[in-house]
Amino acid sequence: MKKHSISTIIKRKNGDPLVMMTAYDALFARLFEESADILLVGDSLTMSFGGNSDTLSATMDQMIYHTAAVCKGAPNTFVICDMPFGSYIDEKTAFANALRVYQETPADAIKIEGGADKSHLVKYLTQNGIAVCGHIGLLPQSVRAEGGYKVKGKTEEEALSLIVDARAIENAGAFIIVIEGVKADVATRVAQSVSIPVIGIGAGNGVDGQVLVFSDMLGLYEPFVPKFVKQYLNGAKAVKEATASYTQEVKNRKFPDENYVY
Ligand code: KIV
Repeated sequence: MKKHSISTIIKRKNGDPLVMMTAYDALFARLFEESADILLVGDSLTMSFGGNSDTLSATMDQMIYHTAAVCKGAPNTFVICDMPFGSYIDEKTAFANALRVYQETPADAIKIEGGADKSHLVKYLTQNGIAVCGHIGLLPQSVRAEGGYKVKGKTEEEALSLIVDARAIENAGAFIIVIEGVKADVATRVAQSVSIPVIGIGAGNGVDGQVLVFSDMLGLYEPFVPKFVKQYLNGAKAVKEATASYTQEVKNRKFPDENYVY
């Protein structure tokens, strides 16, 4: 598959759904390259990879380290680096941190969470040469401020506010928007109200593509499985069975046999 550019991604609006997945390292990125249109180095890595209970502890250094690794594993895939909590508090800080992503990795774009209230940041970044993916709806970086993960779009007022958010982010220059944890009919209306692709996670099937956290999708993350996650593999079971077989064979001195010695 040929690597996407901003324009080939935008052209997919109302076309074939875009496939986005998270990736955190070169090992898995290499495996995902055949299938994914876009790899997102999500700050969710600090949960599934780092063992933390939310995304707020991710740092710029960590995001850069993991983004560089993903780009090495999937050099022909469009890669987006998630900007961690606190890294885009104002225009200058946002640009300085986005510049680090561009200077220290070959990533194609960055992602920031927030709607109309963050559109000034999207505008500043895009006017200064940074490609920006927006993220509206349920915002994981606001979990402590909001006291939990709250599905959005449950009232007409919230639906209209999401449409305002999406339009503000588009007008500010973003080329794509992730919409998370939103009632499916509302997410469809949001997607129909802008001319850039809207990628859903827990937002139904009426949007322009889907993103899932890879460790959820592969059934590797056991602590919590959100309602919207479909597990395409029971990865935890497969890993535990393989590890148990290895352990058994080491203990029984069956491994290594003559096939595995010099
Ligand atoms: O951090 C992440 O993995 C994300 C996805 C949930 C979209 O932002």
